[in-house]
Amino acid sequence: MVRIGVLVSGGGTNLQAIIDACRSKKFGAKVVAVISDRKDAFGLQRAKKNKIKNIFIDPKKYDFDKETIGFLEKQKIDLVCLAGFLLKLSKNFVRKYKGRILNIHPALLPKFGGSGMYGMNVHKAVVGAKEKVSGCSVHVVDEKYDHGKVILQKKVKVLKSDTPKTLQKRVLKQEHKLYPAAIKLFIERCL
Ligand code: GRF
Repeated sequence: MVRIGVLVSGGGTNLQAIIDACRSKKFGAKVVAVISDRKDAFGLQRAKKNKIKNIFIDPKKYDFDKETIGFLEKQKIDLVCLAGFLLKLSKNFVRKYKGRILNIHPALLPKFGGSGMYGMNVHKAVVGAKEKVSGCSVHVVDEKYDHGKVILQKKVKVLKSDTPKTLQKRVLKQEHKLYPAAIKLFIERCL
């Protein structure tokens, strides 16, 4: 059984999708730790509700990466999943879990990725550029923003009537299918 640690900064709907996928024995993994850099992240409530060990680590008070590594080590984590996690991880963290950190990005990487491209900024940029297609990507995390190998992508049509908000809604729906599928694939092929 692959032990997953999820890092969240917000609502955690992707975390929820991963938790739900783990209910199936065939999935071969379970979420055993949830960490947030924000006290009010709803993702922490989701962890509590599902009786998953969880912790808020205040980056203003602590060395976030060091504390996180400590917590993940204690829970014997095999795979780290970033799900709406907004901090940039240190080189040290990436080296420690090299090739075992995944992230989901709400666009078709390498387009609309990189520094500053997160959350609604991404969808604003996509709509602003009059793209016909957007989507989401799950990729391996390396030391550069949104840069590592892409595991899976799903395309989503951009409608003429789309606002960043309507597009975000449709992309997020696909993210919830894509992330568990990518984790399953990654576990089978790469772990
Ligand atoms: C998602 O769009 C994800 O791709 C991005 O941040 C958003 C987080 O949503 N990285 P949630 O917290 O999983 O609901």
